[in-house]
Amino acid sequence: MPKVTFLPTNVTVEFDPETLPYSGHGKPGSLLDIALNFGIDLEHACGGNCACTTCHVIVRQGEENLSEMEDDEADKVDEAAGVTIHSRLGCQAVVKGDVVVEVPDWNRNYVSEGGGSINLGDAIPAEKKG
Ligand code: FES
Repeated sequence: MPKVTFLPTNVTVEFDPETLPYSGHGKPGSLLDIALNFGIDLEHACGGNCACTTCHVIVRQGEENLSEMEDDEADKVDEAAGVTIHSRLGCQAVVKGDVVVEVPDWNRNYVSEGGGSINLGDAIPAEKKG
């Protein structure tokens, strides 16, 4: 069964893709879906619709075990604070095997610093407004 480790908390969860219930957010079987299934805090201001960057994670191991990045994810992840070449959007990256991901500082501090609205303007892409 695939295992996902979330850093820096170093929490590892193991799941069966066949029986994982859908959390209702992000792509089924995505890092976000898995996190929410196991009660792990991963921000998802747009509800897992590839329209914000709050679910940004950096893949430390097992990049090949994630679904390929699609164009909409690639466009959006570029806007994430502290983006790296190993960055993914947690709601879009579907897990196919063992991976280790790090939740960046900025996202971890997002709620505790009262930044609840910082990124919400982003939730509706400019081209879809109005
Ligand atoms: S939750 Fe908004 S892009 Fe992933």
